[in-house]
Amino acid sequence: MCLQLGVESCEFRLKMGKLITFEGIEGCGKTTQIKLLGDYLRKKGYTIYETREPGGTLIGDQIRMVLLNPDNKGMSEITELFLYEACRAQLIKELREKSSDKDIILCDRFTDSTIAYQRYGRGIDKGIIKELNRIASNGIKPALTILLDLDVKTGLGRAKERNIKGRRKKAAEGRFEEEALEFHQKVREGFLKIASEESERVKLTDANRGIEEVHKEIVKLVEGHLLKADS
Ligand code: TYD
Repeated sequence: MCLQLGVESCEFRLKMGKLITFEGIEGCGKTTQIKLLGDYLRKKGYTIYETREPGGTLIGDQIRMVLLNPDNKGMSEITELFLYEACRAQLIKELREKSSDKDIILCDRFTDSTIAYQRYGRGIDKGIIKELNRIASNGIKPALTILLDLDVKTGLGRAKERNIKGRRKKAAEGRFEEEALEFHQKVREGFLKIASEESERVKLTDANRGIEEVHKEIVKLVEGHLLKADS
């Protein structure tokens, strides 16, 4: 392994499961859709790992608490960026240890979130983010990304409702939801830009519909991708 560059040989890289990522603004329904898709694919016989960023590992969950704690308002943008990347490096390490190339990994947020939030939201240089993304993910890219697109007001409204209903595990996880509407607007536009630049990988889905309808479309997209990959 070349630690300096964070890149390993293709042969080793292939040992990890197929990575399917879910992206979108707060409240777009990623978590619900991942769960539904995971259950669907398990019934089809696949071994599925459901995970998320930030988090997904013991170390990552500890970093998550620092990242999302509303008391940490004074966090520097660079500190924030490094913490996301640190979570990612740990997640990739552990996924590679436990998954095989026949498995499917469903990940709630990944490198596109860093581009949308830290580049388009915070304004950090894209080149720096891309390089850190590459190092942290060990060059691993999602095979498919589902972007759940939703207008910002609806998304934030849903996220607030979720917090009130107590579905948020920790009360101290709202730092990003407290950002101004304008910030989330920039993030949404960032995601849409990524989707237009990488339309082969990133599939745009209208999340302003019923859960079942969105699920059916995601199943179609994923099955289409799996068929194509097998042929
Ligand atoms: P989370 O509670 O998981 O949000 P959601 O349920 O909407 O996915 O919080 C993750 C927050 O971290 C979310 O506001 C997006 C942000 N984030 C970044 O800013 N950069 C990143 O690289 C990642 C992975 C997440």
